[in-house]
Amino acid sequence: MQSTSNSNRPTGRRSSLKKRTVMFGLLAALFLFVVGCSKDGMSTWEAFGPVAQLQLDLFNVTMWLMVIVFFLVEGVLLYAIIRYRKRPGQPKPTQIHGNNTLEIVLTIVPTILVLGLGIWSVFILFEIDAPPEGSDPLHVNVTAHQWWFEFEYPDAGNGKKIITANEMRIPVDRPITLSLFSDDVIHSFWVPKLAGKLDMVPTHENKMWIQADSDKIDEDLPVTLFGQCAELCGIAHALMRFRVTVMEQADFDSWAAGYSEPPAITDKAKKGKQIFAANCTLCHTIDGPDDPALSASRLKGFLTGADITPVPAPNLTDLRTRQTLAAGLMDLTETNLRAWLHDPDGIKPGNYMAARAVLYQGGTVTLDEDQIDALIGYLLDLR
Ligand code: CUA
Repeated sequence: MQSTSNSNRPTGRRSSLKKRTVMFGLLAALFLFVVGCSKDGMSTWEAFGPVAQLQLDLFNVTMWLMVIVFFLVEGVLLYAIIRYRKRPGQPKPTQIHGNNTLEIVLTIVPTILVLGLGIWSVFILFEIDAPPEGSDPLHVNVTAHQWWFEFEYPDAGNGKKIITANEMRIPVDRPITLSLFSDDVIHSFWVPKLAGKLDMVPTHENKMWIQADSDKIDEDLPVTLFGQCAELCGIAHALMRFRVTVMEQADFDSWAAGYSEPPAITDKAKKGKQIFAANCTLCHTIDGPDDPALSASRLKGFLTGADITPVPAPNLTDLRTRQTLAAGLMDLTETNLRAWLHDPDGIKPGNYMAARAVLYQGGTVTLDEDQIDALIGYLLDLR
């Protein structure tokens, strides 16, 4: 028996080696597929501003240093395994104490590397803590809600507060200071091309700043960057996205000046306006910044959790100037808006519109197609 199994061994070994090689190849391909990301979209490999650039530099140096260490250590290990492998007829190696010089080198080099990277990281932390002295930052309050983002510009609109949702506009080459809040659970603010993540915590203000530099952006302005909530915050967490549009200061100013200017609306949209007033204003504001008292009552309604209550919902005042709806999920087009009004839960499972709004009964919209037409007409007329 033994001789048979011995004579089979080389073929068996070869086939299992082949299997292992195939498995290794597949795993390597899977790894590359999983980590594969393009520079478009949510890439951390491209910095559009000073904060992201400092963080990317730190990451790159750390990563490449560790790649060098990895190949050095693994190279020496492989060399030793092959060069000093057991050969037939060789005597057992003599046991020796070790090598003091080598041990000192192997202690000192990693210590220098870790200390160096650690100290540099602390310097970068201080450097990205606040915008440069003497700069003129624009302040934005960002509040996270399940599952959308609210942006408030307390001083952008010439004394008029601006509140918008899911799309933040920022002037290029100017520091933007952010105060991050949450109304419900912990979320996280993340626009990889502008900065790393920072948690948005209920009852606690977190601060960060970002900036987009024109000399780092190849394309013509305005440029849209992608953001995403980066903290598991409930059923629609993965669908809690937002966008940041980088624009010239003059374009930003004209957007801010046009905010809440009433548009000229058609007859059809007038009907839509009535439908909106009768059904939607418990949760959405459409004619300027939300009234703080109303916001507070919406939040209270949400936190008490009764079935039909007001809840915080995106401010729609500048809806027509936005690119997307449903927290960056789909392009803002008539077709998509119609689909959203018909079946919000099918598009963004878990969102509170179909569950809480009076005009949805059992998840189904109670408006007829004419009313929806009018509502869409009105919504897309808004500025
Ligand atoms: Cu908000 Cu995840």
